[in-house]
Amino acid sequence: MSTKLAWIETELAALKEQGLYNTIRSLNSPQGAWLEVDGRRVLNLCSNNYLGLADHPRLKEAAKAAIDRMGIGPAAVRSIAGTTTLHLDLEARLAAFKGVEAALTFQSGFNANIAVIPALVGKGDVIFSDRLNHASIIDGCRLSGAKIVAYDHNSVDDLRAKIAETTEYGRRLIISDGVFSMDGDIAPLPDLYAVAEEHDILLMVDDAHGEGVLGKGGRGIVDHFGLHGKVDIEVGTMSKAFGVVGGIVAGRRLLVDWLRQRARPFLFSSAMTLPDVAACLAGVDLLEESTELVDRLWANARTFREGMQALGFDTGVSQTPIVPVMLGEAPLAQQFSRALFEAGVFAMAIGFPTVPKGKARIRVMNSAAHSPADLEVALATFERVGKSLGVIG
Ligand SMILES: Cc1ncc(COP(=O)(O)O)c(C=O)c1O
Repeated sequence: MSTKLAWIETELAALKEQGLYNTIRSLNSPQGAWLEVDGRRVLNLCSNNYLGLADHPRLKEAAKAAIDRMGIGPAAVRSIAGTTTLHLDLEARLAAFKGVEAALTFQSGFNANIAVIPALVGKGDVIFSDRLNHASIIDGCRLSGAKIVAYDHNSVDDLRAKIAETTEYGRRLIISDGVFSMDGDIAPLPDLYAVAEEHDILLMVDDAHGEGVLGKGGRGIVDHFGLHGKVDIEVGTMSKAFGVVGGIVAGRRLLVDWLRQRARPFLFSSAMTLPDVAACLAGVDLLEESTELVDRLWANARTFREGMQALGFDTGVSQTPIVPVMLGEAPLAQQFSRALFEAGVFAMAIGFPTVPKGKARIRVMNSAAHSPADLEVALATFERVGKSLGVIG
């Protein structure tokens, strides 16, 4: 018998032993405050459904109407026959919403990153990348072939030092996540902008967790810091707060023109599907009409974070609706997550390699979909499990 794949068995056994094997649960209900997961009704603390739009009637109606009028699949890449007027409407609406000259959509945020980075830099160029940047940024950087210089997380001093040390370069690009997805802290974008300006370096922010969350009515991190027109490239996603799926690159018209010519996921992978595009358009409508959902999201996040801190939990450096509950070793985080699930709360353990070794945690995603009673259930269950596992006194 062939043994070509035997190494996978060894690797999987090692993951299980280290508490790092990811058991993937399945849902049998729409996204919302409560889910049916593996046959049980549980309180949902792990989706990126920040505003509760994933099952919103207006988005569902828009998707259904688009299917009736335009069908489902794009049946082509954007540059051949996959660009519909719906795609162009969405891009114009997103650009207006975010206060930029132009925007281009991609099939996902991951694709947006692997599209834009290699389109801007290549061999002989250099990228300064925050050490905790998301995997899709890292992959985009690797694909580009540019030299990657990692600077310490959120450290503008280290960024300056790394720029000073790097004397040979062609083009230069600074990239940071806007909101860091595992810790919930926010990049010091005004300082990054100051450095980029001083050295005439392109600046890119990946606002996946800030889109629909930060800024006025969810207009994103650039709006949050009042940096309109100053950040060269804003990447975003419609897979989180927008409750759908799809990526965005926003910025100058010149940049978007260039991406239409050179971004490989735009040229070589089929366009966003029509119901997705239409649902995203309905999402923009909702966000432009009212800040109510964004305001509720932040109020919920504050209640949960302050409640957890009062119970004695360590919530790390979170400044946003992403609230990590720091536990240390991966087996404890997994045990904690299993005990929460048994008690009716769905919150995932995150361990290495997603976060550094010894920094395992439960990552709680707050949502506008949660009611005050849901938050009470969440806090009471964390308290019970935390006491039974000796994490809090
Ligand atoms: C910072 C960041 N960038 C990009 C992505 C990818 O977005 P998408 O799920 O739309 O591919 C994510 C999602 O996990 C993210 O957290």
